[in-house]
Amino acid sequence: MEHSLPSRPVRPRRSVLYLPAGNERALAKLPDLGCDSVIFDLEDSVAPEAKAEARESLRTFFADGRAGALPAGMEKIIRINALSSPWGGEDLLAARGCRPDAILIPKVDAPDDIAAVEDALEQTDAPAALRLWAMIETPRGVMNSGQIARMGRTDGARLDCFVTGANDLIKETGVAALPGRPFLSSWLMQIVLAARAYGLDALDGVYSDFKDEAGLVAECRDGHAMGFDGKTLIHPSQIAAANRAFGVDPSRLADAQAIVAAFALPENAGRGVISLEGRMVERLHLEMAQRLIDKAARIAARDQGDHTP
Ligand code: COA
Ligand code: MG
Repeated sequence: MEHSLPSRPVRPRRSVLYLPAGNERALAKLPDLGCDSVIFDLEDSVAPEAKAEARESLRTFFADGRAGALPAGMEKIIRINALSSPWGGEDLLAARGCRPDAILIPKVDAPDDIAAVEDALEQTDAPAALRLWAMIETPRGVMNSGQIARMGRTDGARLDCFVTGANDLIKETGVAALPGRPFLSSWLMQIVLAARAYGLDALDGVYSDFKDEAGLVAECRDGHAMGFDGKTLIHPSQIAAANRAFGVDPSRLADAQAIVAAFALPENAGRGVISLEGRMVERLHLEMAQRLIDKAARIAARDQGDHTP
């Protein structure tokens, strides 16, 4: 039976910034940025001839205290190259040694791609708290997303989050990259659905045109409406828009508080459905309201630099 899902620490992941691991200027900028999470990238943003150097500068960044000095609560993820590539094995060892919050596996096609990394981590006695994130960015990855997400179904499973690789999906499928993503959307929704089936988080893909703020705002709004938890980003100028779009809107928070207050009234005790300002409100709405209030509290804590999970 798989009705109850494992409980995971829930963290705000509104804005998740990629940073090419060998880019020292970008690394130096990081302490001043307000992103919820950072993905140090060893994969596609690093040229083959620069891979070894990027890995070394990442090792140094984690070893010399700079990573530890980042704002409290900023989640740290390392994206490795695929284990099947010439760099994947070394990357995994280096990433594990850095003790990040999570390792992001690129181009996950099937559950075996997760299992292979899990096995390799077990052999190095990796801490139980180390999570795995999976890029869903290939046709097979989308088609198998339900089976892949199922790797996160058990207590203690490392798999924690799906990350959409929209540019790879466009490259692999030939789908048109149009504003509003009309033809891509059904695959994005499949990624969200698979993640939710097993309690994982899901992050939307990047918006590459980082000078186009209106376009980014529109795409963040769409991603939020699709159910994503946050957006992956490529440039610091994109953080504020993502934090806004994937944060909790004050009017929705007030509405959630009104629902909780209404169900707490003595006359509504034990009732499954009530009427609130002309709307039917059920206990499932109470659950949604409570979840939103919890999320707002976690975001407030994150914005104050607090560690509260
Ligand atoms: N993280 C942290 N800092 C970043 C950054 C990032 N992703 N992107 C840019 N910056 C910094 C720059 O270092 C620069 O800082 P400086 O003024 O101290 O030198 C500042 O922000 C302004 O950058 P800007 O000049 O506007 O951009 P750029 O030309 O240096 O870089 C990109 C543009 C797209 C190459 C760069 O943003 C980038 O590499 N993004 C991430 C790409 C990536 O990881 N892709 C893989 C996943 S799709
Ligand atoms: Mg990719």
